[in-house]
Amino acid sequence: MKLSVIGCGYLGAVHATAMASLGHEVVGVDVDAARIEMLRAGRAPFFEPGLDQLLSETVQGGALTFSSEISEAAGAAAHFIAVGTPQRAEGDGADLSYVDGAIESLIPILRPGDLVIGKSTVPVGTANRLAESIRPTGAHLLWNPEFLREGFAIKDTLEPDRLVYGVANVGSAADDVALLDQIYRSVLAKGTPRIVTDYATAELVKVSANAFLATKISFINAMAEIAEVTGADVTQLADAIGFDARIGRRFLNAGIGFGGGCLPKDIRAFSARAEELGVGQAVQFLHEVDAINLRRRHRVAGLVIDAFDGDARGHHVALLGLAFKPDSDDTRDSPALDVARRLHEAGATVHAFDPAANETARRVAPDLRFANSVDEAVQRAELIVIATEWKQFRDLSPSELATQTPARTIVDARNCLDPATWRAAGWTYHGMGRP
Ligand code: UGA
Repeated sequence: MKLSVIGCGYLGAVHATAMASLGHEVVGVDVDAARIEMLRAGRAPFFEPGLDQLLSETVQGGALTFSSEISEAAGAAAHFIAVGTPQRAEGDGADLSYVDGAIESLIPILRPGDLVIGKSTVPVGTANRLAESIRPTGAHLLWNPEFLREGFAIKDTLEPDRLVYGVANVGSAADDVALLDQIYRSVLAKGTPRIVTDYATAELVKVSANAFLATKISFINAMAEIAEVTGADVTQLADAIGFDARIGRRFLNAGIGFGGGCLPKDIRAFSARAEELGVGQAVQFLHEVDAINLRRRHRVAGLVIDAFDGDARGHHVALLGLAFKPDSDDTRDSPALDVARRLHEAGATVHAFDPAANETARRVAPDLRFANSVDEAVQRAELIVIATEWKQFRDLSPSELATQTPARTIVDARNCLDPATWRAAGWTYHGMGRP
């Protein structure tokens, strides 16, 4: 089937590649000409395990093309909207200008019966409004939120936990549902659950899933705060409550808190939308979730500054990890980068190293010093912070590291090291919510 994907950022580039790998003829469209050039050359514009290979295979095989001209999308049976919905420059709400722009640019090429499929994360009520604007073309709108995680993007697209189809009228959308079923035929053949619902539910499924995950992380980080004053161990607490299948152990890792291009802005946009709808109180707790999360960054910076007796000026700190999570080069709202900045502002010299995110971090924080390896970062360090739990850092040997650095203090902001091993090797170990 001929498909178009409008917006070739994280979501769009992955979706276009995955759809082409299923055998569809896909054109990806983006206004960023440099990005289109890279994609055409079969190179992913960001770090995502496995994407480069699948992208170059599908581009070389001819199934996947890219263009900065929307006219190239004409004739596709379905157009996926995969543009970003970042936080507005002013306020907490979502900036919908890219979604509105994508729909506006599509309208002249839409034909009766075409399907427009929204994948972007939008405030509830958006799909209804967009459906109205495309109605005169005779095309239909379906909202199909995306749940992929960075680092697992291909797998999450081809083997999702579930598919959600939001339609204007569940009783009369059989053709649209059948068309999307055909697109996802091999995904559905694996037994993936599929829920057909109204627009509002589909939009809310996405934001409530992210709000739930954010709440789970902030819950355990709140327990870490309690553990810090009582001498309890939050990692053991998480293991123990996690054995209860109703609670579950996943997303219960206390540490530096959540970041990235999704969870933080999605909970803020959700609160802002609920307030607009007059039900702000229903998600009032998300403000607390946000506040707990931001306190963890403050706590990590505080631990470091305390280690220098309250004054970090003139001290050297190695900060390992800048990405918001491992296996990513994304530093959007990254807690690791935030801590690096705070320490820099407190007067410390920060020697930062990330296996993938040095360049993305350098663009937004050029004042930091960037090292090309762990060895280089720790050379002059008096203290080391593990800010992102890359495998390379989790596997560090305390005795070996001690031969490369004068530092003997480690702040494990991700609780990813074994305190006993590090202490036995002569290190002063500080975790998050653990004694
Ligand atoms: C998140 C959701 O997990 C996806 O389902 C969703 O599709 C995506 O947002 C989106 O809306 O596009 P992602 O931003 O890739 O995916 O990252 P996560 O794996 O959810 O991690 C988010 C943050 O939480 C990271 O900073 C991570 O380090 C942190 N985290 C995660 C914790 O601090 N503790 C945990 O136990 C788990």
